[in-house]
Amino acid sequence: MEKKELSEKESSILTRRLMKWYSEHKRELPWRETDDPYRIWISEVILQQTRIVQGMGYYQRFTERFPDVRSLAAASEEEVLKVWQGLGYYSRARNLHQAARQVVTLYGGRLPSSYSALLSLKGVGQYTAAAVASIAFRQPHAVVDGNVFRVLTRLFAIETAIDTSQGRTMITEIAQSLLAADDPGGYNQAIMDFGAMICTPSQPRCEDCVLKESCLAHAHRNVTAYPVKARKTKIQNRYFHYFHIVHGNQTYLQKRDRTGIWKNLYEFPLIETEQPVDFPLLEQTDAFRQLFSGITDLLIDPLLTVRHQLTHQLIHTRFYRVVIPESSLFDPSRELLVIRQESLHDYPVSRLTHKYLETI
Ligand code: ADE
Repeated sequence: MEKKELSEKESSILTRRLMKWYSEHKRELPWRETDDPYRIWISEVILQQTRIVQGMGYYQRFTERFPDVRSLAAASEEEVLKVWQGLGYYSRARNLHQAARQVVTLYGGRLPSSYSALLSLKGVGQYTAAAVASIAFRQPHAVVDGNVFRVLTRLFAIETAIDTSQGRTMITEIAQSLLAADDPGGYNQAIMDFGAMICTPSQPRCEDCVLKESCLAHAHRNVTAYPVKARKTKIQNRYFHYFHIVHGNQTYLQKRDRTGIWKNLYEFPLIETEQPVDFPLLEQTDAFRQLFSGITDLLIDPLLTVRHQLTHQLIHTRFYRVVIPESSLFDPSRELLVIRQESLHDYPVSRLTHKYLETI
């Protein structure tokens, strides 16, 4: 089906069923206990690319450390990144921080309630603006996220690809027409919970679905064929070799600032190769010789191998612990920051490096 015109009657039946299901099954989550727009905003930003279970701890820590817009705006970016540490997609934290400053300057420290004013804040896109406007301010804006795409394309057997503007517009219109006027925030959370708990990507629980009599994909027995996508995202493989250098009580970090990922985060000295490379070959590279120039008696221990998935990249990583005898003179490049081993945990690092730090 390419376009669905829903009668008011049809849509109100679907909405009522969904809301009833939600009232009986909704998840108890800390941000559902508050009506503070700031906390709701923080929760929505955290949940954009993070699973609920993992997000909860971060939400608690973040709101404890930054209980309101002003405290967030007053913090340094490094402090904010540190609390975000391990969650990934750090631009979310940087944007939150900048947006908090905008809210202080432009709105006296109170989040604006209109969709368009919310949308003008740094990092706030259509999803977050609709979520905050509806949940915190009861404004009639339907959210469209992965759950909504899945539930609605299945319900109406929509073949239009969701990664096209046409598909997006179609789903936004349907979501908007289903919105419960008296509880838009409840409706938005209902459809997201429903997508996360019943209408799941694989093995959807159709037997427990309160919408199955109306679901066209269910009638056609091809529920998991939806949503349809036009493009398959191409994943780039990258090969990282990190060196946790131990020289007496010293170790070395560098700050990433130029490249796309992990801007402003710290990491161990890194060699990236085009292909997977084992240590004997790595040792022969110019980059390796340059990093350890003049050192002959290194003790190298490959400690951890991790595959780290980002949206468009799969990063194959090895962490090596490299012990340089205290008697050797190590004069690393000036870009490296010399720190004490105990302070390793004080620097904001990527989720990938965090995984390694947890093991040592
Ligand atoms: N995913 C993101 N935000 C959510 C919310 N408020 N409820 C359920 N799932 C969500």
